[in-house]
Amino acid sequence: MHTERQIMAEFVEGDWGEFAFKMIDQSMAPAVMQHLRKNFYLDEPLLKLIGLSELAASELDAVATRILEDNLSFAAIEKNTGKIAGVRVTGRPKKGHKASVNIQSREFQMVSKFLGSVEKQVDLFDTFGVEEYADLHFASIDKDFRGQGLASEMYNRAISLLKGLNFKLAKSSFTSPFTRKISTKLGFEQIAIKYFREIEDENGTYPYSHLPNDEFVSVRILRL
Ligand SMILES: CC(C)(COP(=O)(O)OP(=O)(O)OC[C@H]1O[C@@H](n2cnc3c(N)ncnc32)[C@H](O)[C@@H]1OP(=O)(O)O)[C@@H](O)C(=O)NCCC(=O)NCCS
Repeated sequence: MHTERQIMAEFVEGDWGEFAFKMIDQSMAPAVMQHLRKNFYLDEPLLKLIGLSELAASELDAVATRILEDNLSFAAIEKNTGKIAGVRVTGRPKKGHKASVNIQSREFQMVSKFLGSVEKQVDLFDTFGVEEYADLHFASIDKDFRGQGLASEMYNRAISLLKGLNFKLAKSSFTSPFTRKISTKLGFEQIAIKYFREIEDENGTYPYSHLPNDEFVSVRILRL
């Protein structure tokens, strides 16, 4: 019988070329948040489109900090410098437990309303008969390390970890064509889709109605 810590070490941690993978513990959280602010908050397609005010960024910080507490997230560290090259932040929603977040910023409200409207189209607990699943929230690679297969490797390790921990279902809302490509290779199936042109603002209007069909979020699941 292996402990969760041993399973994490076995399926996630270790060297990969110039990088070392490490589960994120409390001591790493500030550096992880800094990485997310410099990379994910600026470049993830939906956040990049809407743009985050400082209030919105601090609200997203609070959400990310909460997800890190689920202890499924890990980082790639550049061995030479100790710099965070990428993170894979994964949460663990449980049936009947709804995380309450108080969102005040206009930008984060728009993001949440948009993602919420597509994610709630399918009740994962009832549809797949699970009590919990893994929500692959943020895949983020530092600008200096993109295009080298790092995100792909982190998805592979995340899926191995989830299988090792006996999860039956993983879900993610993919907004980037690059992560959609990775997820297709891994066998994810689309369960819902919504186009960025359908994003609604606080006045009920559609500020991005001009956007083309290739900018969208695809909610996908993987049976493990
Ligand atoms: C999306 C992101 C995580 C990808 O990380 P990465 O380490 O560069 O991805 P990989 O190198 O594993 O590439 C994955 C696939 O996308 C392709 N790809 C990656 N960057 C690309 C680019 N700029 N142009 C064309 N294709 C690209 C790769 O060729 C690869 O496909 P392949 O396996 O067929 O060769 C990274 O760009 C990032 O952090 N972006 C900002 C945050 C974000 O958008 N996160 C995802 C939200 S769902």
